[in-house]
Amino acid sequence: MNTVLKEFDNNAADEAAVILKNGGLVAFPTETVYGLGANGLDVTAVKKIFEAKGRPQDNPLILHISNMDMLNSLVTDVPENALKLAESFWPGPLTIVFNKTETVPLETSGGLNTVAIRFPANKAALSIISKAGLPIAAPSANTSGKPSPTQANHVYYDLNGRVDLIIDGGSCTYGLESTIIDITENIPCLLRPGAVTKEMIEEVIGEISVDKCISHAVAGEKPKAPGMLYTHYSPLADLVIVLGDYIATVKKINALALNEQCKTGILATQQTINMYDKNKFVVLSVGDRDKKDTIAANLFNTLRKFDYYGVSKIYAEGFSEEGLGMAIMNRLKKAAGYNMINC
Ligand code: TXA
Ligand code: MG
Repeated sequence: MNTVLKEFDNNAADEAAVILKNGGLVAFPTETVYGLGANGLDVTAVKKIFEAKGRPQDNPLILHISNMDMLNSLVTDVPENALKLAESFWPGPLTIVFNKTETVPLETSGGLNTVAIRFPANKAALSIISKAGLPIAAPSANTSGKPSPTQANHVYYDLNGRVDLIIDGGSCTYGLESTIIDITENIPCLLRPGAVTKEMIEEVIGEISVDKCISHAVAGEKPKAPGMLYTHYSPLADLVIVLGDYIATVKKINALALNEQCKTGILATQQTINMYDKNKFVVLSVGDRDKKDTIAANLFNTLRKFDYYGVSKIYAEGFSEEGLGMAIMNRLKKAAGYNMINC
């Protein structure tokens, strides 16, 4: 398949919509990460997503909508909590899990009776979805297991030849996938942390529960979002997170890295980048410790850069889990296969 790459404009969105309506695959930007889109109601089109990504069939897809009317045919009911969340955070980086109607194929929902719905805020995404007039199934547009793409060139690198069209809309604002909340249970449950934080959700609907698997691997327990089970976000190198006060962390990382015989990368921050020897190690800043949104926005791109530099080992500074830190550390821990050292 010949993959075409186009900058977002009205004509490109028209073209994307035609491809989607005809059962093809289009990668497009959202405010979180790039998505690999197909008609979410067309079983043949949905199967192409799984093939292109090498994604396990039992990992359900999120359906993306561009207005509230699209929701009605997809979900059995919209509970009060969901309505409050939608009013507060849609369009935006929040995915809500509902009970699904028969309109949603089991291939899309990974065999579940629930369906995850997201109303994105990105203008390219909204334009493409509304022109197609269809709920668009879109997982992150990476090869399964790789860090999610936050730039069109990441998508091209992973999926060239496996997608009809890539729409380039620049870098994604948030850089981490949407928050997922399941409101089908009595107490709503956070399945994946993201830019809409637990604290922000609780301000709107009161206390929620958090899937245990978000912060650590729990032996014998499966995460409630099937996709959180798989190895994810991994760079090619072995990644180890060093946790602690950041001055102690820098000391520890320097000592560990000096002992390595292989090409070694260090995931640093603006505050610490000059505390490592750039002649010995590949040192990259992921952002500003005091502005977690900069770390979220750069995390996946930085992990991909280490692949590009060909390092075999990476030591990463850890972050506090408050607010957006929960989402950052969730992705970093998964990238590290929960390989962490305290100092
Ligand atoms: O920000 C995002 O959500 C991006 C952009 C493209 O919108 N999409 C995204 O999709 O991250 P994906 O497929 O990479 O991750 C979706 C996650 C998976 O972990 C999947 O298992 C979970 O959502 N999920 C989907 N439907 C679900 C359901 N009905 N119940 C529980 N988890 C579900
Ligand atoms: Mg993904």
